[in-house]
Amino acid sequence: MHRRGTAAIRNALTRCMLPAILAALTTTDALATAPVCDSGTAPSPTMFAPRSVPAELILDLSWLVWAICAGIFLIMEALIIWCIVKYRRSKDDRTEAPQVYGSNPIELAWTVVPTLIVFVLFLVSARTIFEIDKSTPPEGSLEITVVGHQWWWEFDYPEYGFITANELHVPLTRNGERVSIYLTLESNDVIHSFWVPQLGGKKDVVPNHINHLWLEPTMPGTYVGQCAEYCGTQHANMLITVVVHPEEDFEAWVAHQQKDAVHDMSVATGRDLFLRTACINCHTIRGTVANGSFAPDLTHLMSRSVIGAGVARNTPANLHSWVDDPQILKPGCRMPSMKLDQNGVDEIVKYLLTLK
Ligand code: CUA
Repeated sequence: MHRRGTAAIRNALTRCMLPAILAALTTTDALATAPVCDSGTAPSPTMFAPRSVPAELILDLSWLVWAICAGIFLIMEALIIWCIVKYRRSKDDRTEAPQVYGSNPIELAWTVVPTLIVFVLFLVSARTIFEIDKSTPPEGSLEITVVGHQWWWEFDYPEYGFITANELHVPLTRNGERVSIYLTLESNDVIHSFWVPQLGGKKDVVPNHINHLWLEPTMPGTYVGQCAEYCGTQHANMLITVVVHPEEDFEAWVAHQQKDAVHDMSVATGRDLFLRTACINCHTIRGTVANGSFAPDLTHLMSRSVIGAGVARNTPANLHSWVDDPQILKPGCRMPSMKLDQNGVDEIVKYLLTLK
């Protein structure tokens, strides 16, 4: 009943007054500039087009609150304007209006009515919070651990035994049934905040503390979000990309990610150089001695569309610039320039480009 009621309110509001407001609200500077996806097909970080059950619940609640507040606003403004017009002082009227000191019915009305309104808002908010805040994984969910780092995201799939970065891939269904995604949120350093508006609420990612977030996508697609808690210099470059796949596509993606890195002999020079430098202390490339966990896993680097957590597209030229000196693309990031000569950078980039 409640869902149908709020849907009607939402439709009414959408038709009459909201398009302009929404356009302004849905494009904040940080969100508009951070994603580097191709323009035209760029996923939008709007919270007004939910594609996941908890995001729908949150939006429904927002519309209800909006409608009640708009109703109060309109009634109050109408009364004020009516009083101003009706009781304005005419030119030659010098008499004072009747003064009312204390009126039980009036005082009762302006106490009880707002209290009831607040109580209704409290109840519907509490119901939504309990619905979306799950302390245990829903049955059959896919559990993924998200680790916030300065300034990138680690996605750990314990069920499948691999780790990836910045691009979260999830299935829409499992065995034909829609699947819940149950995220465990941890931080490696400072407080971050995980927020993909089309898929769910915002949840802080806190050091030495575990939070959970439930998503249940309703449509395949690519959705974007951002770190939503200021976490240092490169806070604005912590793009989250979530790809919701049809079941078979997701299984193919998992099978690919589970493989060790390819060992292409034509790039042995770059590979040897990579494995001889300090790169291996921070990065993991499965199937090699590189097993660092401080920085993104590079086993399937080229399967990702962006580098530096969304700071640039994953192209050979950007990769070259990054390996040469990451501080150019992402000033302040934790990766230093390795001070390699140009030949060394070329060879390492050639090697990285094979990590499909
Ligand atoms: Cu991480 Cu802001």
